[in-house]
Amino acid sequence: MGISNKKHSNEYNIIHLPKEQWQNQIIPTECQTESRLYKESCSQTCAWGVLIDEKLVAAIEAVPETTNRGLRINVLWVDVKYRKQGIGHSLIEVAKEWAKIERKQIIIAVPPSTTTIEFLKNEGFTSENFGNADLALEFGWKSPRKAWLTRSEVEIREERLEDYHEVERMLQKTFWNKFQKGADEHYLVHLLRNSAEYLPKLSRILLKDGEIIGAIFYSLAYVQDGDKQHDVLTFGPLGVSVDWRGCGVGELLLQETMQMATDAGYCGIIILGVPDYYPRLGFQTCDKFGITTEDGKNFDAFMGMELIPNGMKDIHGKFYQSPFLANLPQEETEEYNKLFPPLEKQYFPFQW
Ligand SMILES: CC(C)(COP(=O)(O)OP(=O)(O)OC[C@H]1O[C@@H](n2cnc3c(N)ncnc32)[C@H](O)[C@@H]1OP(=O)(O)O)[C@@H](O)C(=O)NCCC(=O)NCCS
Repeated sequence: MGISNKKHSNEYNIIHLPKEQWQNQIIPTECQTESRLYKESCSQTCAWGVLIDEKLVAAIEAVPETTNRGLRINVLWVDVKYRKQGIGHSLIEVAKEWAKIERKQIIIAVPPSTTTIEFLKNEGFTSENFGNADLALEFGWKSPRKAWLTRSEVEIREERLEDYHEVERMLQKTFWNKFQKGADEHYLVHLLRNSAEYLPKLSRILLKDGEIIGAIFYSLAYVQDGDKQHDVLTFGPLGVSVDWRGCGVGELLLQETMQMATDAGYCGIIILGVPDYYPRLGFQTCDKFGITTEDGKNFDAFMGMELIPNGMKDIHGKFYQSPFLANLPQEETEEYNKLFPPLEKQYFPFQW
């Protein structure tokens, strides 16, 4: 991920600079206007930086634009003494990582000096018009976007023993730093495969030219309605390789497996998932079905879908899934991570 850099003689880590601690910190950039961290009141602004001997020597601050798919860099600075050591590049890598997590396709910067312009050009920024005609000197970086994939261009199949490690690596990278610092979904899959609830006949991986770029894992769950227990499906993780997001991979995996589940006679699916993705495929919040979590709650991320008309009409009550799906011991995940090349943990907003 390029968030920490060990290549140069000065080793450094990029750390999150929390607002509570760093608000109004003056950044001595060479621009005429004074630069401060968290100057804007926007709650989504986030900053990272490098501390050497407890002194801030570099910083980047960015904010997701609310009206478009851009992430705007407000502050970008490396102390003169620490320039030309790759720190600026690592800061931009953090912004690119955050843009991916936020599904922002453009990073916008307003370069204050010719040095910054040269630097940004080297980082792949150009001076195209990125949508704000008022800012003549606006510089932007566009995430490379691939075309939407069709079913005939990919292979969707059950995973084999020899795929396990690669599938887990793909999932580890996919979920890394997204919902927490690091990720545990790859370890969860490892455990799930050996659990009684796992449904390998419905779970699928998706390959493009032989590379595994997506995976969905199904398991059996139930709704407890008084003394009656109704079987329902759940899935998770569903993950798509970072480089192939937004190309229809998730949709292809869901459509194919949901059809298989319908053919197999399952009545419906209940999930805990990102609330703004699944409704496009027909998922509704579970209050519509009279189903709550096991502790009696309903919220946007708790969604369900009938696989056959009225499939869950007579199913009400509390939803239960395998307990380990919700609670993975941190130490076990850390141990399991040793099987994979290390990835750097980093804070991003919206982690739990
Ligand atoms: C969420 C995820 C599975 C979606 O798969 P995908 O292949 O990227 O999605 P698709 O290409 O099928 O769909 C793309 C469309 O869904 C939208 N979309 C993708 N991810 C989204 C998300 N997290 N929230 C809202 N919309 C999303 C895209 O904007 C795009 O819409 P558009 O064509 O109108 O721009 C994938 O982005 C992923 O693996 N994310 C990280 C892990 C994760 O969050 N998994 C789900 C946990 S419940």
